[in-house]
Amino acid sequence: MKEITLANVSEDVINQLPKGALLTVKYGDQLNTMTIGWATVGRIWNKPMLTVLVRFSRHTHDIISKADSFTVSFSREGLLKKAFATCGTKSGRDIDKFQECGLTPAYVDDIESPYVAEGDLHFICKIVYKNTLEPELLSKEIKDTWYKDNDYHCIYFGEILKILSK
Ligand SMILES: Cc1cc2nc3c(=O)[nH]c(=O)nc-3n(C[C@H](O)[C@H](O)[C@H](O)COP(=O)(O)O)c2cc1C
Repeated sequence: MKEITLANVSEDVINQLPKGALLTVKYGDQLNTMTIGWATVGRIWNKPMLTVLVRFSRHTHDIISKADSFTVSFSREGLLKKAFATCGTKSGRDIDKFQECGLTPAYVDDIESPYVAEGDLHFICKIVYKNTLEPELLSKEIKDTWYKDNDYHCIYFGEILKILSK
């Protein structure tokens, strides 16, 4: 793994998101990963930032709401394709997804949330802000399309501490 900058990989992120990525969080002895397809990368507060959207119904939300870090792992080589399917349909409430999918948690410095070693591009992030979507502030089109069941997202803003690439 080598460390790289956001400018080197923002195109990869945009291209990879429709295929999926693994959002991994750990708090205490609770560890979980789930597939995500939505995220933004950019610069806020003069920091490189990655934002992810987690619905309240997710087990991941139970953990990330208490955590101070998260990681996002991509798979440009396609090795995580099966894991994306399992981790995007099964809940960590019912199974240990690391065990079920043969995934290895890998740790960086003193960051609590590990990344998934089988991926080939990883974002290591410190949570600096979170914000629940305000239903009445959403456009009608987005609200009617994505939130018919009132299962809203909480948006987590992660300061990108490190980007690791194979
Ligand atoms: C391709 C794909 C993308 C997804 N993107 C998101 C997302 O961005 N946010 C979200 O809350 N759920 C997303 N999901 C759904 C979760 O991955 C799924 O509900 C998962 O089982 C939740 O696991 P958990 O209960 O262990 O957190 C996505 C699922 C798939 C298959």
